[in-house]
Amino acid sequence: MSDVWVTLEQVEAGVHRLRIERERALNALNADVLDQIEAALDRVEADQSSRVLIVTGQGTKAFVAGADIEAISRVDNQAAARAFAARGQRLFQRFEESSIITIAAINGYALGGGLELAMALDLRIAAHSARLGQPEINLGIIPGFGGTQRLSRLVGPGQALWMISSGEPVTAEEAKALGLVDMVVPADTLMDECLRRAHILAEKAPLALAASKRLVMGSRDWTLESGLNQEAEAFSRLAVSADGREGTQAFLEKRPPKFQGR
Ligand code: COA
Repeated sequence: MSDVWVTLEQVEAGVHRLRIERERALNALNADVLDQIEAALDRVEADQSSRVLIVTGQGTKAFVAGADIEAISRVDNQAAARAFAARGQRLFQRFEESSIITIAAINGYALGGGLELAMALDLRIAAHSARLGQPEINLGIIPGFGGTQRLSRLVGPGQALWMISSGEPVTAEEAKALGLVDMVVPADTLMDECLRRAHILAEKAPLALAASKRLVMGSRDWTLESGLNQEAEAFSRLAVSADGREGTQAFLEKRPPKFQGR
């Protein structure tokens, strides 16, 4: 059996935390780590009560310092290299396609595949000490787990090209200014802030929560017209859903709503 490099725990109703625990290699992603992340995601998705997933790295130094460089150095043919890239891309896409809202708790270096993982998650909260970058160019390669596409969408092509072609990392504060992370907090409050946000989300009406994610994240790729159509369609379904009825009725009756996910 391979080492256990990923742990998953339920921290409260509807909220799970996935931790990549390969601290001696700064939580670098090899094939086993990717498999274990996927197995954890399978478990979270199989649980009907899941609403939020927090992803973080072990220790104080790194979120994830990239794909495993030793593993990349051993790849000796193009098909295998392509399969490795496709493996990471497919997995990270699953986070985006999930109805569960995902939060990257960026506790340190988010480099290469680490930044690519964080960018495939929905919300990004970083510790002041975090450093984010795509340093693959220094290895003679480029990002392969989605970095060229997601970084450009998040910060614009000019800044993305600078980061990818120079390999220069940015500080957490710089990442915030670029729109690459949503919030920067002191390292010792990072998990509390992620848990606070997760708690807020986990209490919302589940169908509305999932629709919010699908529509907002989908807006990156849709035309405005298509997005507006999809929004009106989802709004109409939710307005007559049991939770839509309950939420509006509870407001009028001045009581807290009890949502059931219907
Ligand atoms: N893959 C495999 N191992 C990695 C790794 C990676 N992406 N990043 C770090 N490690 C390993 C190091 O080899 C080292 O292992 P060792 O103790 O057996 O020698 C250990 O993690 C600690 O890293 P080290 O480089 O000694 O720490 P540092 O504080 O001097 O530097 C970094 C930290 C993040 C700046 C540096 O590790 C680094 O540049 N890592 C590679 C980042 C990268 O290029 N990522 C993209 C990969 S495609």
